[in-house]
Amino acid sequence: MKENTFTMIDNQTGKRYEFDVIQSTRGPSAIDISSFYSQTGKFTYDNGFTSTASCKSEITFIDGLKGELRYRGIEIGELATKHSYLETCYLLLNERLPNKQELAEFDLEIRHRSLLHESLRHLFQAFPAGAHPMATLSSATAALSTFYYDHLNIADEDGYQEMARRIIAKMPTLAAFAYRHSIGAPFIHPDIERSFSENFLYMIRAYPGGTMRIELEGEKKIKDIEIEALDTIFTLHADHEQNASTTTVRSVASTGAHPYVAISSGISALWGRAHGGANESVIAQLEMIGSVENVDKYIAKAKDPNDPFRLMGFGHRVYKNFDPRAKILKGLQDQLKDELQLDSRLMEIAHKIEDIALHDEYFIKRNLYPNIDFYSGVIFTALGIPRSMFTPLFVIGRTTGWITQWIEFKKDRTMKIARPRQIYIGE
Ligand code: CMC
Repeated sequence: MKENTFTMIDNQTGKRYEFDVIQSTRGPSAIDISSFYSQTGKFTYDNGFTSTASCKSEITFIDGLKGELRYRGIEIGELATKHSYLETCYLLLNERLPNKQELAEFDLEIRHRSLLHESLRHLFQAFPAGAHPMATLSSATAALSTFYYDHLNIADEDGYQEMARRIIAKMPTLAAFAYRHSIGAPFIHPDIERSFSENFLYMIRAYPGGTMRIELEGEKKIKDIEIEALDTIFTLHADHEQNASTTTVRSVASTGAHPYVAISSGISALWGRAHGGANESVIAQLEMIGSVENVDKYIAKAKDPNDPFRLMGFGHRVYKNFDPRAKILKGLQDQLKDELQLDSRLMEIAHKIEDIALHDEYFIKRNLYPNIDFYSGVIFTALGIPRSMFTPLFVIGRTTGWITQWIEFKKDRTMKIARPRQIYIGE
């Protein structure tokens, strides 16, 4: 028997089949079943891809049992506490952290690329009043491909980097415009004197002319602690290996479509409440539960196999331990509670849910721990971010991951069009 192979036996025919084993640098190795059909005449079936690796990647590593997450080998806690979101973007795109000069140049370029083409601004007017910003954002991102059509044929490193920096820079502006249109407020253009994260808060909050809200005590300026908190949140969302939206981006990339259309598809995939949309649903659910007295009733509903109700912000396909991003956000909540107004009623309900769930047999047996979305909503609310913008915030952070994965896909000459098969059970 050859080393690094995996043998399968068909119990009906007694035939043996051998497959190569692909070694990872960390985490489980994989059985290369690409010749499975040609060898056996059968397909493999893996509902929801629970046991399938769809690509080889050097970008992000997750150990779901330990609750570990690393971008380009660097642990998420280190990035979140010692580095900015733009440094993290640079790391993901360039495989290393920038030096001071490189960071300054990168930051400056992102600021200058944050403006939108005037014609794209007019597109927003076509959407109905009250449109959910995620729907508008996905459409506007697809529309961006009409302005940068030449990105379809990029095949060199400089082109990839420019295309990536452009979408990272414009996503906060697209998201802010989507929001302002949804409430009928005039657009606020990015201010290139403000940093990436500050600019987003500015575009959401400012009045025409650039003034912030005036209260009796004076102008309500953006606080440093708010900018730092948002920046950390973007870093925590920057990439998460082959999740549903990233898999969507790679699938669209595999057909040769435009990179911004692939990102637009990723945004659509992220919107669902099983994925990024959970952050909006968590707060809606906490509001629905209403008070700590009602928590037991909803925990019972979540455990009832005949009730479709699920606790939003709990469970994860990969983490069978505390989501490390959730741990960091929980710490951030504690840090912010004295400086910003965190909704104490919602936090009390959330703490009770967390406390019960972490000690309840149902949740323990299924390894259901709080995920990133369980804690992000309370912080977003304290930052004055409207609920409909929670998932667009996830989009802004994840854009870097999506575009980095898109580039990695394009550079990998072995990648094929994503085309699974089926088990036909019809007529
Ligand atoms: N509340 C109650 N029960 C749950 C929950 C939950 N939130 N999540 C999973 N379960 C149960 C589920 O009913 C099943 O029980 P049983 O074995 O008795 O049938 C078991 O746990 C396994 O669930 P699953 O649906 O097979 O697990 P999955 O890996 O396919 O789904 C998930 C993962 C995240 C979609 C799911 O846990 C869920 O729907 N969570 C709530 C939504 C949420 O918070 N999503 C955000 C994920 S983190 C952000 C991101 O990266 O997208």
